This record gives sequence, C-alpha cells and structure tokens, in this order.
Amino acid sequence: MFTQLEKIIINTPGTRSEILVGQSWETVKELLPESGVVIVTDENVRRLYGDKFPKVPLLTVSPGEGSKKLEVIEHLAEKLLEAGIDREGFVLAVGGGVVCDVTGFLASIYMRGIRCGYVSSSLLSQVDASTGGKNGVNLGGTKNILGNIKQPEFVICDPAMLLTLPEQEYLSGLAELIKTAIIGDKELFDLIDRSYREILDRDRHLLTVLVAKSVNFKASVVSEDERETGLRRILNFGHTYGHAIEMQKSVKHGFAVASGMELATDFSFRKGFISLDEKGRIINLMNKFGLLEPHNIPDDQVEQLILHDKKKTGSDINFVFTEGIGKATVNKITVSEVIDFYKKFRDKN
Ligand SMILES: NC(=O)c1ccc[n+]([C@@H]2O[C@H](COP(=O)([O-])OP(=O)(O)OC[C@H]3O[C@@H](n4cnc5c(N)ncnc54)[C@H](O)[C@@H]3O)[C@@H](O)[C@H]2O)c1
Repeated sequence: MFTQLEKIIINTPGTRSEILVGQSWETVKELLPESGVVIVTDENVRRLYGDKFPKVPLLTVSPGEGSKKLEVIEHLAEKLLEAGIDREGFVLAVGGGVVCDVTGFLASIYMRGIRCGYVSSSLLSQVDASTGGKNGVNLGGTKNILGNIKQPEFVICDPAMLLTLPEQEYLSGLAELIKTAIIGDKELFDLIDRSYREILDRDRHLLTVLVAKSVNFKASVVSEDERETGLRRILNFGHTYGHAIEMQKSVKHGFAVASGMELATDFSFRKGFISLDEKGRIINLMNKFGLLEPHNIPDDQVEQLILHDKKKTGSDINFVFTEGIGKATVNKITVSEVIDFYKKFRDKN
C-alpha cells in the first residue's frame, strides 16, 4: 500500500522544527549543510545502517541507557573540537532515544549551541523521544536530571527502520504510543486495540499512521507549552512511578512506563476519575502486548526513587491522572500520597 508522508511542524518561540513521518531516512543528505556535519550514532545502528550514512565524520557511542552520562557528552565534545566543528557546525543523530537525547544535549551546549537534526530509528524515539526538543543525561540514579530543551531542525521517522528493531525494543516503544492514546487520542487507542496483529507484524503503512498521530498530538502540546509549565505535564503520564521502576529494576523505558501507567490508571480509578470499565480497557491493552511485568520496589527505595523525581515541587508532585481514555488531568498531590499508593498497589498485587 502507498505510504503517505506526513510533515508535522512544531513552532515554538524562535524555532521551527519539521517532523517527517514516512520519509526514507536516506533522504537525510538533502537536509544537511554542505560542510561542518558530524554524525552521532550507536554501535547497533552503525552496524545495520552505517554503510549508507552520508560520508562525514562519525562518532559512535555504546548502545543503551549507560551512554546517557556527562562523560559521554564530554568525550563527544572533544571529538567535535578535533573535527574542527565551529559555531556553524551541525550534529546529526541517527539512532533511538538515547542517541537523540545525547546528541540534542551536546548540540545545545557545544559552543553555546549548534544546529542539529535527528534520524529517529526506534519506535520509542519516533513516537515520543525525538519530538519536543527535550534532551538530557542521567546523574547517578536520577534520570534526565541534566538537560535542556532544544528543537532539532528536522526529525525523520522512517517506518522501514523499525523492521530491524529487536522485539523488546519495539514493544517498549509501543508503551509510549499507548500513553499518547490514553492521555490525548481515543481514536488512536481504538485503532491500536483493533490492529493488534498488524502492529505485531510491523505493517509499514499502519506504523506511519500511528507514529504520525502520536507526533501530531505531542507537537500540539509542545507548541502550546514548550517548557512544561502547564499542559506539557500530561506527557508524564505513568512516568512518576515509571522512572522509579526503571531506575530500580533497570527495565527498558517503555516497560517501566507501562507499569507506571498501570499504577496511574488504578490510582485514577481509586480517585473516581475513571470507570472500572475504562480502567479494564487500558490495562487489558497493555497486557495484550505483554507490557506489564512485576515490580517490587522495597519501602526504603521507593521513597528515595520518587523523591528524586524532578516533577516534585517541595512536598508535592504534579501527578498525571487519566480522566477517561483520551483525557488527562494534572493534580498536585503530596509525595507521601504517591508513596503510600505505590505500597498499597504493590502489596495487593
Ligand atoms: N527526550 C524525550 O522527550 C524523551 C522521551 C521519551 C524517552 N526518552 C528517552 O529515550 C530513551 C529510550 O529510547 P530507546 O528505547 O529508543 O533507546 P535506545 O536509543 O537505547 O534504543 C534501544 C535499542 O535499540 C537499538 N536500535 C535503535 N534503532 C534500531 C534499529 N532501527 N534497528 C535495530 N536496533 C535499533 C539501539 O541500539 C538500542 O540497543 C530513554 O533514555 C528515555 O529517557 C526521551
């Protein structure tokens, strides 16, 4: 079937970013400046796609979350200097959420900011990580605590790249797609629910539609609230508990977020925001794709891990609840309520 290209524009104060969904990643050379370009990728993506990369200096990081640290940024910055990259330079990320987060952060601070663009190669980065301009690295046990907001000039989301993605990585991305559906798009939720087989088969046309819907939603939120002073907070649905689970268990981001969404959905039900039926639909959908894994954060660690959540202000947390499929609300609640609910949920399950 013919796959429609979607171009989604994000306009934020002083910047314009284009997200090209359904476009072949190999067209990236047409978007790059003639000189001063460096590519950042990881070892897996380089092995699979490196022979078709534009012929420019290439910097490779180790795959996975371990590369989201300041040492890696420092090392890459040294390499940019060695390659003679100046203020007119351009860094292109080719990879998943880790490569995009690292490259975006690097581009935001190198010489006080140079241009960047992304070829987003994992489902998680296509549906979520590479839209919105957030970037960052971890510090010790705390996720994304050092970072910045910088919009890439373009992001290419080519569904063909998703065919080489390992199953667990693919499912991890699906969790963030389901998150978008729960907080903002009931039609997307219904589409995911009835397209189980085609999703697992990675149908290229369907993936283009799903990624475009997710990016469109995120783009509309980011265009309204780039710096997360209000509306953008809803994108953190499932992330308060999800980050705690991710840091404690070292599970893949999407799986941790899925468990966080299960908790947040149950919490929403207990608060009277959603019906039992809607809670059931949300949890069933995540179960259908095998996204919900057991977690068991001990009492002393849950406090520490949730207190490290950077969405915390004083003794309160801006917690994201669902108010029904396709709708979300942010309520300030106390940290102790968040911790107590985790303990109750954990002990019940
Ligand atoms: N900036 C944001 O707004 C934002 C939003 C959500 C998540 N994130 C971040 O994204 C990160 C997770 O992203 P991720 O799941 O893409 O992780 P990742 O970049 O580590 O990629 C997952 C794995 O898939 C491999 N891979 C990537 N593309 C591939 C392809 N086409 N074929 C085969 N293998 C491929 C990678 O080498 C890696 O091993 C987390 O650090 C998370 O914090 C950021």
